[in-house]
Amino acid sequence: MAPSFVPADVRVRAPATSANLGPGFDALGLALALYDDVAARVTAGGVAVEVTGEGADDLPTDASHLVVRAMLETFDELGGRPPGLAVSCVNRIPQARGLGSSSAAIVAGIQLARGLVVDGQKLMDDAAALRLAARMEGHPDNVAPCLLGGFTIAWTEESGAIAVTRRPSDSVQPTVFVPADRGLTAEARAALPATVPHADAARSAGRAALLVHAITEEPALLLPATEDRLHQQYRAPGMPATFALVTALREAGVAAVVSGAGPSVLALSPVPEHFTPGMAWLQQRLEVDVTGARVEGVHWDTPSGPLLPQVR
Ligand code: HSE
Repeated sequence: MAPSFVPADVRVRAPATSANLGPGFDALGLALALYDDVAARVTAGGVAVEVTGEGADDLPTDASHLVVRAMLETFDELGGRPPGLAVSCVNRIPQARGLGSSSAAIVAGIQLARGLVVDGQKLMDDAAALRLAARMEGHPDNVAPCLLGGFTIAWTEESGAIAVTRRPSDSVQPTVFVPADRGLTAEARAALPATVPHADAARSAGRAALLVHAITEEPALLLPATEDRLHQQYRAPGMPATFALVTALREAGVAAVVSGAGPSVLALSPVPEHFTPGMAWLQQRLEVDVTGARVEGVHWDTPSGPLLPQVR
């Protein structure tokens, strides 16, 4: 049956995310309180997209915009598309830096489409929304925390992606270091070998298990828990400045990792005041987002997120 549409604007705040967190390649992720705000409404025809902030100069403003593509995929799963769409994006998540901007666009699009369809949340539950988002993104470790908030553990079954979310310890203090240069996830994935030594796989698996404990219960263990042997060393030649910063932070005792596929760096433990990353890096302390991308403007079973990014 063709869906009915909500005759109102809907809005979503989609958080930035950091994936991998060291040893949790394609599995672990963390939602950060830095948001893209996206609003949409159904119109009589055509697709119009307005972008301000990050990406305003180079993102498409037609149906090829990633938010719209995700909305259309969602409408198709919900039984039909509206005649037209107007979408407005206020982007704050740096793009192509390993902070989940494409996942935020995909998740925002899915949530907006669910919000614009009467009973959209019932017709597509969060589990189905996650499966669709992960299918569009290609891996689940950014879309899971973006959708669910908090610290997420994601995995993939025949039926698609599944995730659980946990609340990190209040002592986990994320700081991101964002460079001016962009990185491409596809290139970073191409740098990975088809196989890794068994000893490295075993070591990383142990650290990933420890990380679940460290991030939720015992942050004092974050330094050993974030050691990775699966991806960062293989990606280092393609992002030497990122690798150098991760190394310098870790030598200073900070639990630092490449954020997602880079080139940003994520520190999960406090960065000493005297530590200077250099002029090339924008250093920003961020809270953990514990809500995920919720729709405002329609009734949802879960509360909407905080109204402003909480940056310390
Ligand atoms: N797990 C992914 C990767 C995250 O490292 O390639 C990229 O967004």
